[in-house]
Amino acid sequence: MARNDSRAPDGDTTTGHEWDGIREYNNPLPRWWVWTFWITILWSIAYWVYMPAWPGISGYTKGLRNHSERANVAVEIGKLEAARGEAIKRLAAVTSLDDVEKDPALLQYTLAAGSSLFGDNCATCHGSGGQGFPGYPNLNDDSWLWGGSFADIKTTIRYGVRSGHEKAHFSIMQAYGRDGLLPAETVSDLTSYVLSLSGGAADAAAVARAAPVFQQQCASCHGPEGKGNQKQGAPDLTDAIWLYGGDRKSVHETLTNGRAGVMPAWEGRLSEDEITALAVYVHDLGGGQ
Ligand code: HEC
Ligand code: HEC
Repeated sequence: MARNDSRAPDGDTTTGHEWDGIREYNNPLPRWWVWTFWITILWSIAYWVYMPAWPGISGYTKGLRNHSERANVAVEIGKLEAARGEAIKRLAAVTSLDDVEKDPALLQYTLAAGSSLFGDNCATCHGSGGQGFPGYPNLNDDSWLWGGSFADIKTTIRYGVRSGHEKAHFSIMQAYGRDGLLPAETVSDLTSYVLSLSGGAADAAAVARAAPVFQQQCASCHGPEGKGNQKQGAPDLTDAIWLYGGDRKSVHETLTNGRAGVMPAWEGRLSEDEITALAVYVHDLGGGQ
């Protein structure tokens, strides 16, 4: 091998290895590197002694500290459950809204739990803020189909509406047009009548023709003035708040084919304290009575 490379500094030794003219120096490693190397080794030994480290046949070396993430998590969960268990116990014993509202800590827990339960179970139909969609009532206004007291709301959530539960709210408005219960002209006149109830534009002659029919066919549920009846879940027709839409086409469709929306029963799917939390949450959305 040629050793007369002019670029090699004086006094440098090489290992004698050479590849295509590149020679390997035999310099000591930098001091900082060597120190770091020994410190990491000392660190690992200290770690083996202090912390759980080596797997054995049945278990592992526990270390002086006897540390266990799993045990820590179990302790934290235990604490959380104790705190929640306390709140859940108090919530399950709640009979009136006052019981919750006079206890700020319980109220805060209840609303947080209610909000997350609502997001998981109710928002698909009622909207994430309870604002509702056509056919799915708005839960934050003061217009209630089945009543807006804490107890009413709780009953609706528990048993549902036309849900098949034996205690569910139930009432069926007929499909007057489809089933031939009323002639097509009468359905059309009644559509005008319904629009007139909330101040909409409607043909006066049609409204006059429909007025006696409304008293005969509809007043039993919607009331003689069309103000609705919460025992029947019959909406107020005078308030311009619509479940299915207040344009002529939607009202005509309601009278022709009926609607009969279904709200599921939650008893059995949600626990007692969860139903209570939801009732408090829905009541608190703004329109509770
Ligand atoms: C599958 C869709 C659906 C889901 C899910 C649903 N609802 Fe409903 N909910 C309805 C419908 C439809 C009505 C209206 C029924 C009717 O025509 O009277 C209703 C009515 C209500 C009412 C009565 C409103 C009033 O004006 O009286 C309350 C309160 C209510 N829902 C709360 C809830 C809560 C709380 C949840 C979640 C646990 C929930 N709903 C989940 C469809 C749903
Ligand atoms: C057995 C009780 C009952 C009778 C009788 C009844 N309704 Fe209804 N009506 C309801 C219920 C309950 C609803 C709520 C919608 C649903 O889920 O079916 C409703 C909904 C409506 C709606 C939709 C309101 C909205 O907000 O979208 C209109 C309009 C209406 N009824 C008009 C009438 C007219 C007109 C008659 C008479 C021909 C009549 N109803 C007879 C129970 C009744």
